[in-house]
Amino acid sequence: MGVSLPEPYYERDDIVIYHGDCHDILPLLEADVIITDPPYNCGKNYGEHTNDRLPWPEWCEWWDNCLELMPLPQFPVILSFMSQTALSHYLRLGLHRPDWLLSWVKPLSLAVCASPFMPHWEPICYWGRGRKADGLFFGSDVLTHNVTPNEWGHPTEKPIKLMRELVGKFEGTILDPFMGSGTTLRAAKDLGRKAIGIEIEEKYCEIAVKRLAQEVLL
Ligand SMILES: C[S@@+](CC[C@H](N)C(=O)[O-])C[C@H]1O[C@@H](n2cnc3c(N)ncnc32)[C@H](O)[C@@H]1O
Repeated sequence: MGVSLPEPYYERDDIVIYHGDCHDILPLLEADVIITDPPYNCGKNYGEHTNDRLPWPEWCEWWDNCLELMPLPQFPVILSFMSQTALSHYLRLGLHRPDWLLSWVKPLSLAVCASPFMPHWEPICYWGRGRKADGLFFGSDVLTHNVTPNEWGHPTEKPIKLMRELVGKFEGTILDPFMGSGTTLRAAKDLGRKAIGIEIEEKYCEIAVKRLAQEVLL
């Protein structure tokens, strides 16, 4: 007997959340676009299920494995945030080079890292074979939005306006396998889109459900 999808943690208004490990759930799903923000090994404490301080070869192998669970026919477009540090290690050690890089420009960010530069942009890796000649056009590959304070108690919330701009570029059902506080899903809901989220920590699933219940004036 085949493995079946678990009961959704939440399902309403075309938005579905699964609480669990995306490695188990991804093979059971399909979506038009993956838009995600995985743990990119910068030492954050997400909870007991994530080690965000792995040796780089291990992290690159982990990300290879995640990408292999997102094959092209089931997921034709994949976009993933990544730090410059993680990307440079991945380009050296990983197996699946991105097909394009978008840039999230965040002019007022005060974050510092090991590099002598203050990072004012973050790569968004794109994997996908679609071309303009096939009728696809996603517009600019630069998205400019300042960082916003974490409002919902998750350590790395992405700005909602950034996620609305990113989600708005693509057609169809959006899947975020590393959903966190559910910013991608909230953006999808604001735009009247179908979306699926997966999150391994139940405390973040709870937060996402609260965010989705909020009335938003756009
Ligand atoms: C960088 S955060 C995402 C933050 C999100 N973009 C937001 O705005 O709130 C990555 C999330 O992936 C979750 N995670 C880590 N490993 C996972 C796995 N194997 N399956 C599902 N979720 C996972 C972590 O608990 C964390 O909440």
